[in-house]
Amino acid sequence: MEQYVIKGGAPLVGDVEIGGAKNAALGILAASTMTDETVLIENVPDVRDTKVMMQAMESIGVIIDHIDRHTIKVNGRNIRSQIVDGDYIKRIRASYYLIGALLGKYKSAEVTLPGGCNIGTRPIDQHLKGFKALGAKDAGVVGGGMIVAHADHLKGAHIYLDMVTVGATINLMLASVMAEGQTIIENAAKEPHVVDVANFLNCMGANIKGAGTDVIRIKGVERLHGTEYTIIPDQIEAGTFMFAAAVTKGDVTVRNVIPKHLESISAKLIEIGCEIEESDDAVRVVATGRLDHTHVKTLPYPGFPTDMQPQITVALGLATGTSIVTESIFENRFKYVDELIRMGANIKVESSTAIIEGVDKYTGAGITAPDLRAGAALVIAALAADGYTTVDDIRYIERGYEDFDTKLRNLGAMIEKVDNDRDIQKFKLRVG
Ligand code: EPZ
Repeated sequence: MEQYVIKGGAPLVGDVEIGGAKNAALGILAASTMTDETVLIENVPDVRDTKVMMQAMESIGVIIDHIDRHTIKVNGRNIRSQIVDGDYIKRIRASYYLIGALLGKYKSAEVTLPGGCNIGTRPIDQHLKGFKALGAKDAGVVGGGMIVAHADHLKGAHIYLDMVTVGATINLMLASVMAEGQTIIENAAKEPHVVDVANFLNCMGANIKGAGTDVIRIKGVERLHGTEYTIIPDQIEAGTFMFAAAVTKGDVTVRNVIPKHLESISAKLIEIGCEIEESDDAVRVVATGRLDHTHVKTLPYPGFPTDMQPQITVALGLATGTSIVTESIFENRFKYVDELIRMGANIKVESSTAIIEGVDKYTGAGITAPDLRAGAALVIAALAADGYTTVDDIRYIERGYEDFDTKLRNLGAMIEKVDNDRDIQKFKLRVG
């Protein structure tokens, strides 16, 4: 079982290149199957979730050519089945985008119920409500854990989402893009990756307006065609490195980013005492003294992202005074706090709120990554801790961070991926 072994204490210094946005890539990969022509996609992050998604696409006959590590050509002409089954697909949440894509293209889809990070109950009622409104009357979950949706004809509809949901917004764009007439999605999610999927579909010939606002209007088109597209940079990967700089009192420039997408993250870093310098496609974070306390509540974009909640909690755990972090998107996203407490943090969780009394330092420990973002946050805590930390279950982290350890090492972190005790000992001897 692979682990990270980390010796804390080195401030992170230097530049780091941010990769393509995982959560945009997952929607775009599903969308790319909706034409019979070839689609070229650049800046696809080489992470576990995109690999599983591509495996699922190949299992139904999609042809994927890997041009280089981050560029692929996709052709969906020979899709032979609209049934996506198999244990591996349960591992990723975004497998459900194949329902929207297959339903939109073939009016028929059956996909194994998704898994993904265990951060709450994560219902899919809004997706199903939308599919039904578009004409897939049977949309639902059937015995054996399959989501099914079949329609004779897809017709545009007016869909009001009961809550802001990224997944349902993207799925309903996919399902309605070739439906007859107009679809209106109200209370739509505004995340950068929602906009990126809409832009990609528009490049394929779709007619989607309003993505990035809370009303999206989609005029159905007869067919989609091939295109070439570059995925936007990953807001959360960038934010994670920005907080790594803050927590280690470092000086890091995240490159190949869209600073506008990072505004809520930069604003909080400034509030807690970091200096931020922005240029066209880079953001520099400089942290010197001890961080200041603050309050933060996670919200849909442009609010502070839930996917950055563990990272800011780790930072505030070392800040002066009392901070409060409120999680408003997922009900089960503080599981990592127990691990942080084992490293010396003073945090009390009361339902969806963490009350944090800042401590002077964390201490290295043997800890386990409970999910993707919390795993990355615990690595950051370890980088600032006294002594050695081992992090188990790093497969969660690898779902969404490409070369995480290598990128951190290039910034001066003492971290290594190991799979046996002997390598841990060697690491300890080497870093001293
Ligand atoms: C996406 O999840 C992301 N995943 C998550 O990133 C991210 O945390 C989340 O959006 C919020 O930004 C992908 O893009 C693959 P939602 P998603 O639908 O789409 C409730 C990461 O670490 N809801 O926006 O599943 C839901 O329970 C991952 O990269 C319903 O009640 O999230 C939640 O409380 C983790 N019914 C809220 O809405 C529904 O039908 C927002 O969920 C759908 C959602």
